[in-house]
Order: sequence, then C-alpha cells, then structure tokens
Amino acid sequence: MPDIAYSREFKDKLLLFVKDNVKQSRYEHTLRVIAKAKEYADRYGADWDRLEVAAIFHDAYRHEGNLEHGPIAAEHLEKDWGVTDPEILEAIRYHTIGHAGACKLTMVLKLADTLEDGRSFDEAPVLRKALTDDLESSMLLVMERIKAYVMSVRDDRFNETSQEFIDWLKERVPQDKEKLMSNKEIALKIAKALDDKKAQDIVLIDIAERSGFADYFVIADAANSRLLEALADEAEDKMAQVGEELRHKEGVGESGWILLDFGDIIVNLFTKAKRDYYNIEKIWADCDSEQYEPERN
Ligand SMILES: [Fe+2]
Ligand SMILES: [Fe+2]
Repeated sequence: MPDIAYSREFKDKLLLFVKDNVKQSRYEHTLRVIAKAKEYADRYGADWDRLEVAAIFHDAYRHEGNLEHGPIAAEHLEKDWGVTDPEILEAIRYHTIGHAGACKLTMVLKLADTLEDGRSFDEAPVLRKALTDDLESSMLLVMERIKAYVMSVRDDRFNETSQEFIDWLKERVPQDKEKLMSNKEIALKIAKALDDKKAQDIVLIDIAERSGFADYFVIADAANSRLLEALADEAEDKMAQVGEELRHKEGVGESGWILLDFGDIIVNLFTKAKRDYYNIEKIWADCDSEQYEPERN
C-alpha cells in the first residue's frame, strides 16, 4: 500500500475524491493551499511528496463549522486510503489548531492553509511578507496573529492545544529573533498603511545590527506637504490601533520632513526634494533594505 500512496495517480484520485466531497469554494481553497504548500515546502525544505498528500486531503471532510474535520480526514485517509505515514496524518489532524512538538509538515501545511492567496483578511499581505526563512519563528508570528484575531472576535478562551503550540514555539525561538520578527511585521504594517494613502517609494531598512536605538527605518515620500501630514496621521492612527504608541514626533508638513518615533521603528516621511537632499538611505547603505511592494489584485 505505501508504495502506491505517493504516486501521481494516487494523488489525482485523492484530489478527485475531495472535489466530489466538498463544495466548489472549498475545493478551490484546497487547490490554492496545494500551490502555497509547494512554495513553502521549497522555502523550508519540507518533503513535498508527502506534504502534497496532506495538502490535498486536509479539508476533505470540511463542511460548515465542523472544527473536527482535521482528525476526521486523518482517520479516513488511513482507513479508506491506506496512508499510514505518521507525519502526513499528523499534519492533517492538527492543521486547524497546531500542537506542541509539531513536525515540519504540520507547520508548513498550517502556514499554507492560513496564508494561501485567496485569504483576504486584513493582515494576510503583511504576514506573507513578514515570514522569514526560519520556519519556527514564522510559525510563531502567524500563531500569535491567529490568537489575537480569535480573542478579538470571541469571548471564550483560546484553544488550549493551540496555546501549548505557541508556548512550545516560544521556547524554541530565541527572544531577540521573536522581537525582530514582530518589529518587522509592524514596519510592514506601517508600509502598507502609507502605501494605501499614496506614499511613494517606500523602503524598509533593517538597522538592528548597526543601531542601538531602533530596529527598523521606514522611509517614504509624499507628493506634497499636505499629503505628508496626512501620511504621518495615518501612520500614527494605524499604530495606535495595534497598541504602538508614538513616542516622539519631529517636523511638520511644511518643513518637508516628518519623523515619527515608535520606539523600535522610526518612520521618516519626506517630500521628494527633502528626501534627495538628506539622503538618509545613504547613511544606512550597508544595512539590509527592501523596497515595499504591495500585493495588487
Ligand atoms: Fe481546514
Ligand atoms: Fe484549509
């Protein structure tokens, strides 16, 4: 049985079964999870041959509101299809909640399921970009966001197994890495807010190594001084929403340069002329920097 378990023919049969067993939108989600899982398998070095089986079947028994669909699908895959690989079964069983001690297949499937390209919750684009090549810290970041979301919409307590998963990840991810990742996420969030308000040429610079005062610079320019003020207000509002307080502000629109200090993240907003004039990017030229490229549909 196991040797046919991973043939193309077997996988196609599995996928056909899923297509017949769930509604069209769920099937389309499955196809997007498969695509995303392939991308992340390459990135994190997961065994694609086995992960593909898990991705195909993870929602095979997903019907409205049944939170037990993971364990149910895992059982059926073993009983009806003869798949006994413990990691494939684990990945499917725990794809909704995760668990302490999760294997690589489980984590990669969970990331793909949460961030497949059809997911359009507010933070999805930021989270996709915030992932690094480190699987555990990326997983931790995503789990923390899921928790924040669940707690914001529901009054009841967060799933205990998921909390254990978070605690386990925290033990394994060095604290400075955890902090750096969440700061990158915040920097990306600011970048997205600025982009939504028509800021131009948004650049993120990772200054953690070089600077004793902050982790990230976000730099952007505005077409005129009025827009500059509007961008500063937007950044301040968006940060206040996630509990990041503005510690210090310098400059006004008229001066062509506004600096916003959020502690670990410093935002520099310029008119084009002032940006060229001060050229602070040159000062930090030996740090890693990236151009912010928004996702556009
Ligand atoms: Fe699911
Ligand atoms: Fe799913």
